[in-house]
Amino acid sequence: MKALTTAGRPGLTLQNVPEPDTPTGHVKVRVLRAGICGTDLHIHHWDAWAEGAVTPGITVGHEFCGEIVELGQGVEGLAVGDLMSAEGHIVCGQCRNCRAGRRHLCINTSNLGVGRNGGFAEFVTVPASNVWVHQGKSLASVTDAELDVFGIYDPLGNAVHTALKFPLVGEDVVITGAGPIGLMAAAVVRMVGARHVLLTDIAPHRLELARSMGFTAIDPRERSIRDTQSDFGMREGFDVALEMSGAPTALPELVDNMNAGGRIAMLGLPASDISIDWGSVVSRMLTIQGIYGREMYETWYAMTQLIASGLDVSPVITHRFAFDDWEDAFATAQSGEASKVILDFE
Ligand SMILES: NC(=O)c1ccc[n+]([C@@H]2O[C@H](COP(=O)([O-])OP(=O)(O)OC[C@H]3O[C@@H](n4cnc5c(N)ncnc54)[C@H](O)[C@@H]3O)[C@@H](O)[C@H]2O)c1
Ligand SMILES: [Zn+2]
Ligand SMILES: [Zn+2]
Repeated sequence: MKALTTAGRPGLTLQNVPEPDTPTGHVKVRVLRAGICGTDLHIHHWDAWAEGAVTPGITVGHEFCGEIVELGQGVEGLAVGDLMSAEGHIVCGQCRNCRAGRRHLCINTSNLGVGRNGGFAEFVTVPASNVWVHQGKSLASVTDAELDVFGIYDPLGNAVHTALKFPLVGEDVVITGAGPIGLMAAAVVRMVGARHVLLTDIAPHRLELARSMGFTAIDPRERSIRDTQSDFGMREGFDVALEMSGAPTALPELVDNMNAGGRIAMLGLPASDISIDWGSVVSRMLTIQGIYGREMYETWYAMTQLIASGLDVSPVITHRFAFDDWEDAFATAQSGEASKVILDFE
């Protein structure tokens, strides 16, 4: 089968590898769609993070959906033909948090497409416990657009996990970073009843896409978050913030623009240290909450029901390439002109 692999140096290789066996407790999946993520670009470049985190020789890719084609021994409750998306974090089941049901806090998490073979391949095996079945959907009934979205349930889950961390009804919400995850989070925040929603970004294409989805979106270097508060007629600051850029300047801006008691959920992974006004955090009792991955499986339940209730995240999918054209797909994802780029394996 074809698989896109890393040799532990810059560049990836599309090569023929043996189809995987299906170990006990695992399922074999025929991959249908996959999303390219910043992580995959880091592996492609083989930067310092990749050097420290990625197992050379593996197949990359952690955002994907597919059809179950084989069940390993002992697998119950799943069937050949089930349409699924994969939870990319594989947890140990043994540590304190796992045993308490807080699997997103497992201290021994390993990642599909980072520490072990991922989904940029014709077939992949995953633990049965990492399968999220799209109930009531089959290959015969599903639309192309639905499949594309199933392919990005992993980052949609990041967006939903972060967005739903704090109550939103009637609240004023600012989201720094209008990448695919920031945009999906904005769609969730609007749907569940926030009052004002502001997105920030510094890339013109990303700002345009946000505006085309009906959001107010600013480049904070041109118009400050503070000035936009007055545009909205706000008087006391934002209630909730979602940091989804990873930019070191974003968190200090958010701290400056929160109401007292404001809550900041932080998904963006900063590449450098960040200095903030801690006096302001303390005296105004701000909360800064880190967010990692998705809650297993409450986030998956929430995103499925949001989609069933009409949440539309399809505008974030701006490009789709055949798997064989992966080089063009990666170049497009890298270019900054795209939002989410999909690989199509059919
Ligand atoms: N914690 C987790 O589990 C987890 C999981 C997935 C992604 N992430 C992180 O979440 C973030 C969002 O993911 P994504 O896939 O949407 O990434 P992305 O890189 O596509 O989007 C980030 C956006 O932030 C914008 N940006 C850069 N500087 C900015 C600034 N100063 N102010 C406002 N916006 C700015 C960029 O132009 C870009 O559009 C990334 O930092 C990613 O590493 C974290
Ligand atoms: Zn990802
Ligand atoms: Zn664990």
